[in-house]
Amino acid sequence: MEIYKGHIIFTEKPEAFTIYKNGYVVVEDGKVKFAGETLPQIYQNITLKDFGESLLIPGFVDLHFHAPQYANLGLGLDKELLPWLTEYTFPEEAKYADLAYAEGVYRQVAHDLWRNGTTRVVLFSTLHIAATKLLMDLFNESGLGAYIGKVNMDRNSPDFLIETTENSLSDTENWLKTYANKYELVKPIISPRFVPTCTSELMYGLGALAKEYQVPIQSHISENKGECEWVKELHPTAKHYADIYEQHGLLTSSTIMAHCVHNTMEEIERFKENGVFSAHCPNANYNLSSGIMPVRKFMDAGVKIGLGTDVGAGHKVSIASVMTSAMQASKIAWLESEKALAPLSTSEAFYLGTKGGGEFFGKVGSFEIGYDFDALVIDDTQLKITPGRSLEERLQRFIYVGDDRHITHRFVKGSELKEPKR
Ligand code: GUN
Ligand code: FE
Repeated sequence: MEIYKGHIIFTEKPEAFTIYKNGYVVVEDGKVKFAGETLPQIYQNITLKDFGESLLIPGFVDLHFHAPQYANLGLGLDKELLPWLTEYTFPEEAKYADLAYAEGVYRQVAHDLWRNGTTRVVLFSTLHIAATKLLMDLFNESGLGAYIGKVNMDRNSPDFLIETTENSLSDTENWLKTYANKYELVKPIISPRFVPTCTSELMYGLGALAKEYQVPIQSHISENKGECEWVKELHPTAKHYADIYEQHGLLTSSTIMAHCVHNTMEEIERFKENGVFSAHCPNANYNLSSGIMPVRKFMDAGVKIGLGTDVGAGHKVSIASVMTSAMQASKIAWLESEKALAPLSTSEAFYLGTKGGGEFFGKVGSFEIGYDFDALVIDDTQLKITPGRSLEERLQRFIYVGDDRHITHRFVKGSELKEPKR
């Protein structure tokens, strides 16, 4: 059993922060057993770790990150989605046939997620099985929690980055057989890239594998208008984009759909009914001129939502930076909707980047009893400027202007993480 003392802040619900000034968190077997301002008598004789004036917050959760695209970070952001994929992304992803190249990039991905306070992440790798397994091995070594997906793509893709339907399915199944239960905190996720690059036969096959092996699913939806038009041409009889995934068994309660910028209300209702998670990736949506996801509409409809960096379309690894961008995006959505869609508050943005996305991993992203103790210790001494700010103000300032220099400790499921080797 461990006891941690500090200024504890988390979001049980989006509307408000729960704050324990000079509070305590008791952790047993990696899970929160108690959190509050007064330490119960039964724990009084146990030595505690005192973080003093630091803030103790849940670890950040990133629901959408392309590990191979880290090599392109901050580059090639001058095109919309489809030419961006062709010009910059597919040629980079083809390089992951080379394991030495993959290891170089993937070690930096694990290191920099650790550095930026992400404790759980959902990753796309590439279509290459060996590099995907290597990525999973490296994440297991790092102690971070992750779902990692081998990408599937069997049409409308360049010769140097495409699979046959048969190989795509058999490779995926072999990988699931060896990696589904290999690690405690690093698990596979089925990852059809998106409808334009997946035949119907492939999507049916992947839906069946997800069901048979009880594995979650991730993909992209309605990010860009040109993409949406193309999907309509490819599937003229489908009711809408979400309907195609649903028909193929890919729209489940353990599915993450990234972007959701241009979905109709009918699709949003399908998401809600099926229990689909939506990954909001505002940085990527600005960079590729995709638009702004109406996140308030999804929240009002009761859809489960988390945040995603979407590296490399997104240019920042930090989920705090994505919280800031999500708040900014929501203000433009508010103006554009004639003030119908209320902007996100700080606690709402924080909720999305912790407990909202954390739900995909189980009881993750909060300090309520029974939650995994995934935590960050924030020493914001350098950000204080003047004394006397409230704890909520201190957290808000860290979200907007803090960075990895202010994160002093990181925990996943009760274990403190060491710096991963680069
Ligand atoms: N849609 C299909 N593939 C991708 C990708 O790699 N990144 C983004 N942002 N959207 C996609
Ligand atoms: Fe993406």
